[in-house]
Amino acid sequence: MQRYLTVGSLIGIACLTLVGLASHGATAAAPSTHGGIVQVAAAMGNVANGKKLFAANCASCHGANGQGGVGPTLHGQLKNPPMKRTHTALVAWIKNPKPPMPKLYPSPLSAKDVDDLAAYVLATFK
Ligand code: HEC
Repeated sequence: MQRYLTVGSLIGIACLTLVGLASHGATAAAPSTHGGIVQVAAAMGNVANGKKLFAANCASCHGANGQGGVGPTLHGQLKNPPMKRTHTALVAWIKNPKPPMPKLYPSPLSAKDVDDLAAYVLATFK
């Protein structure tokens, strides 16, 4: 009995280690792993990919450094329209903005693209 317990805990530790490694790596989701922790990491978005997407889809209006232009600045409190600086609020806005901001989801931006963009905006513009 004791032996089974030991084997069991070793497997448990191995699993935790794998999940830990996966969540530290690039957040491009590990599709084979359906562990909750990995999914949370993936849901936060990939900042590096978000940077590229921002340059291509958002910078023309919000400025390369989020300083604003046709669209408002993305630094500081978000108030055009007012929204919280949270991943959830940004994702909701990018998926369903009000004019004159264009709706770029679901095309050309995928749900993952929007996640990555929100992560980039939160991580970069303060
Ligand atoms: C064609 C110009 C245009 C493009 C392209 C554009 N936006 Fe906007 N964006 C706007 C305008 C205009 C507003 C203000 C909307 C309003 O006043 O209700 C806005 C508002 C926002 C806000 C809210 C700002 C605040 O202070 O509340 C965020 C966040 C945002 N945009 C992010 C993005 C992201 C990320 C992208 C790229 C996927 C993007 N926008 C692409 C024009 C644009």
